[in-house]
Amino acid sequence: MQTQIPFKTAVVICSDKGAQGEREDRSGMLLAQRFTDAGFQVTSRTIVPDEKEEIAALLKMLCDVDKNTLILTTGGTGLSPRDVTPEATLSVIEKRVPGIEEALRAYSMSKTDKAMLSRSVCGIRGQTLIINMPGSVSACRDYCDFLLSGTALRHGLETLVKGSMECGE
Ligand code: MTE
Repeated sequence: MQTQIPFKTAVVICSDKGAQGEREDRSGMLLAQRFTDAGFQVTSRTIVPDEKEEIAALLKMLCDVDKNTLILTTGGTGLSPRDVTPEATLSVIEKRVPGIEEALRAYSMSKTDKAMLSRSVCGIRGQTLIINMPGSVSACRDYCDFLLSGTALRHGLETLVKGSMECGE
């Protein structure tokens, strides 16, 4: 399905190993490919180490300077001490969008009970929606399957960009 608006989208890979060149970025590539195929305008794919301040600074730049409508992060949402993507995200968003978090986790739980281990969050800063995803390729595939199969994501982004939208009957 194609989007009406080619929403400007950035992919952020939060990974110490990825940033050091020790791990190939398969999850970020998958996200970029899936969203491009769905009609989104994926303009950047950036690998950043699991450092809260670095992630937060990058997210702010991608929102405020690059003016992306959507940012997809992958990785750093689990329980290890280095997993800080949700904390970085929470430090930059102005409003949380719990429904997307809940829906993604619920869908993922139908695939694997390990889905409960992701602390991924979702929220908006200005006119940008930020969605955290886990780091594994299969998790990103599940998140894409869910997000790209319905109309809610596109509706939410249109509302964000235009200021208001009719929700229909
Ligand atoms: N969600 C889905 N859909 N599929 C998965 O395989 N893996 C889980 C979880 N969410 C998984 C998932 C696992 S094993 C972990 S540890 C957490 O995501 C956090 O992953 P991260 O630290 O790479 O972000």
